[in-house]
Amino acid sequence: MKIGIIGAGDVGQTLAKLWIQAGHSVILSSRHPETLQPIIQELGSSAKAATVAQTAIAGDVLLLAVNYATVDAALAQMAPYVTNKIVIDATNPLRYADGGGLERVIGDREIAGLVMADKLPNARIVKAFTTLWTGYLQQHAHRSHPQVAIALAGNVSDKPAVASLIKDAGFDPVDLGPLAASRPLDPPSPIWNQVLTADEVRSRLAQISQLAAA
Ligand SMILES: NC(=O)c1ccc[n+]([C@@H]2O[C@H](COP(=O)([O-])OP(=O)(O)OC[C@H]3O[C@@H](n4cnc5c(N)ncnc54)[C@H](OP(=O)(O)O)[C@@H]3O)[C@@H](O)[C@H]2O)c1
Repeated sequence: MKIGIIGAGDVGQTLAKLWIQAGHSVILSSRHPETLQPIIQELGSSAKAATVAQTAIAGDVLLLAVNYATVDAALAQMAPYVTNKIVIDATNPLRYADGGGLERVIGDREIAGLVMADKLPNARIVKAFTTLWTGYLQQHAHRSHPQVAIALAGNVSDKPAVASLIKDAGFDPVDLGPLAASRPLDPPSPIWNQVLTADEVRSRLAQISQLAAA
């Protein structure tokens, strides 16, 4: 598969490596594609650099991995080319707070996956890869059984392709349901930035449901 990666930072480059190892080809985007030459050389002939628009056009599936502060600018460049494409949304609705640390930039009751679906209505948004720091992705990809879980949420028809890419990257996909059920993929959450197996993800989410029902 040809995977278009919008945002060739920590997440984009980490997943590019894992997907190339699995036999995919990737297009890494940048506002300045020429600056990506060192990583393209490192990744080899299965990787190319392109602008955001070129990447959105060429990718069979897209990964969105830009900082939330720049997401609207990136979406404006890719939006004309994403109709009916699966867009894996790896973004977290966070910014650096003035006093240090990270803070949410969407309301406490909002769900980032639904916010993204509103921003990019022609695309098929699947939320995934938001919960694990890239250091953990690099350290734990293809771990022996039980593998580390990556949770995903989206439409039933769009998730098999993304689950397959999660497996190809060396992780165990855990389906949380539709985007409306993707709140645990947003910080803060008991599964956010936790290295967990699929059973551990399900158990933590069951505990939240029980607490909510009590
Ligand atoms: N880092 C993690 O461990 C981690 C884990 C899970 C999820 N996430 C989430 O994934 C997203 C990306 O994180 P990251 O750490 O990979 O970020 P990053 O290293 O800062 O990379 C973001 C990339 O976005 C590109 N970019 C900036 N403005 C853009 C624009 N207007 N249009 C297109 N591309 C633009 C930049 O490339 P150019 O400057 O070359 O254009 C940059 O390489 C964030 O939302 C983050 O919350 C991060």
